[in-house]
Amino acid sequence: MLRRPRRNRKNAAIRGMVQETHLQVRNLIYPLFVVDGKGIKEEITSMPGNFRMSKDEVLREVRACLKLGLTNFILFPAVAESFKDKTATYSYHKDNFYLKIASAIKKRFPETCLISDVAMDPYSSDGHDGYVEDGEIINDVTLPILAKMSVAQAEAGFDLIGPSDMMDGRIQTIREALDEEGFYTTGIMSYTAKYASAFYGPFRDALDSAPKDGDKKTYQMNPANAQEALIEAELDTQEGADFLMVKPALNYLDVIALLKQNFDLPIAAYHVSGECAMLIAACQNGWLEYEKAMPETLQSIHRAGADAVITYFAKDYAKLASRKGR
Ligand code: PBG
Repeated sequence: MLRRPRRNRKNAAIRGMVQETHLQVRNLIYPLFVVDGKGIKEEITSMPGNFRMSKDEVLREVRACLKLGLTNFILFPAVAESFKDKTATYSYHKDNFYLKIASAIKKRFPETCLISDVAMDPYSSDGHDGYVEDGEIINDVTLPILAKMSVAQAEAGFDLIGPSDMMDGRIQTIREALDEEGFYTTGIMSYTAKYASAFYGPFRDALDSAPKDGDKKTYQMNPANAQEALIEAELDTQEGADFLMVKPALNYLDVIALLKQNFDLPIAAYHVSGECAMLIAACQNGWLEYEKAMPETLQSIHRAGADAVITYFAKDYAKLASRKGR
């Protein structure tokens, strides 16, 4: 045998030298669920280790994460039913607690990167990402609402606006609205290829944001499609996105790789709630070892081509990395 690939796996030093990808804490984005009020930190049942937090608790959490080198956060609001309506007006209301929490974080910790969520579902009485009329999601009525929401978020201090709604033309509408208001340095992390996935369940439990009727298949992508992601990525690029995102991550590693190979924009991937819940459940049963399965999982998403990985395991990964001195 002339070729023996095992020679390059002989010891840890050699393995270290030839390691092709290195997932670092700075590549990670940590989702935080926020609620109105004070002194609230409730664990989300289907996502152990994740909490709905009020402003004081979120600030404490961000401080703890920064100590671990974790600087990137994506915020989601859990809104009381009484604030929800057909047109999601609370999403840009000046008293919106979500916006206030973002401002408080940026003021206290300007070194953070804060990413928002743009979609109507947390604020909509219909629980859909767009405006609903006679059971249909109306694209072009939704766009100006998303634009208003985005401008309010930029005003609050978010660094990146994160449209997760999958309406057509939203990136351009949002980009123009931001520029018109002078927010030309606020970026857009577009949920480019967001699939109508069964793996969002725990997230919808956390926010109580499941659709009241029907499903999201007329706007989120069909899990059977990859080619179509190229169309979405092309449009997002033309419309002014700064990041292209694939969501979920694990079942869509091929799509992550496809976008990485075909586009120059940085790629983000969202390792979603159901993917996280599966792994936790297996670990709780003693079927998998968390400290090994978790980093391998995140590493695989990075290896597939994701520059940034949104994951509920970000803090645990950062803890592990600081312990190992990575
Ligand atoms: C809202 C939104 C969802 C997620 C992120 N933003 C749910 C959905 O589209 O129904 C899911 C995230 C996760 O499951 O971790 N538009």
